Amino acid sequence: MSPEDVLEGLSEIAKRIEGCRRCPLFRHRTRTVPGEGSGDSGIVVIGEAPGKEEDASGRPFVGRAGRILRSAMADAGLDPGRAFITNAVKCRPPGNRRPTRQELEACRPWLEAQLRILRPRAVVVLGNTALDSLSGILGLRTTIRELMDAPLRAACPWGECWVLGAYHPAYTRFNRRVPEILRKTFERALKIVRGD
Ligand code: URA
Repeated sequence: MSPEDVLEGLSEIAKRIEGCRRCPLFRHRTRTVPGEGSGDSGIVVIGEAPGKEEDASGRPFVGRAGRILRSAMADAGLDPGRAFITNAVKCRPPGNRRPTRQELEACRPWLEAQLRILRPRAVVVLGNTALDSLSGILGLRTTIRELMDAPLRAACPWGECWVLGAYHPAYTRFNRRVPEILRKTFERALKIVRGD
């Protein structure tokens, strides 16, 4: 698929997400937040769910956690616009609560459709919610802790890819090393996609 076809496919999915009513979150949203970026680095980043700023703008990771995430990516040498940044759930849960299992499952086909178009060589999961969703697609049985120690090589419907794990950037509140951990994770992801 050409880069233009990938962008067209992603924008088609984004339009379908806009009309999505698969779970009760559609009642609360201002905007849907499908994800953004070309993904032409071969890297996809998955967070949990949009927060207030994301719900208002329709863009993922533009609030406080987003600034931490995007600087860690840039510090690692990865232009955030060349990754595809998305979330396990595309609408904001009220009060920023964690998405329920039902909401995660209802939204999973959108994530799967995006991944099948992007065919990433590395997927970075930020925290347990993102990992839960991806595990349902790839049949993984692992933990964020294990993924942080060693990336996992997974057989994906689109071919082989590596799954890397890191703390969610919002966890910086409890652990000041999170930005550094994120930077190292993106350095690792870049090495993988460059074949170093
Ligand atoms: N936290 C997330 O998990 N995703 C966002 O888009 C913003 C904050």
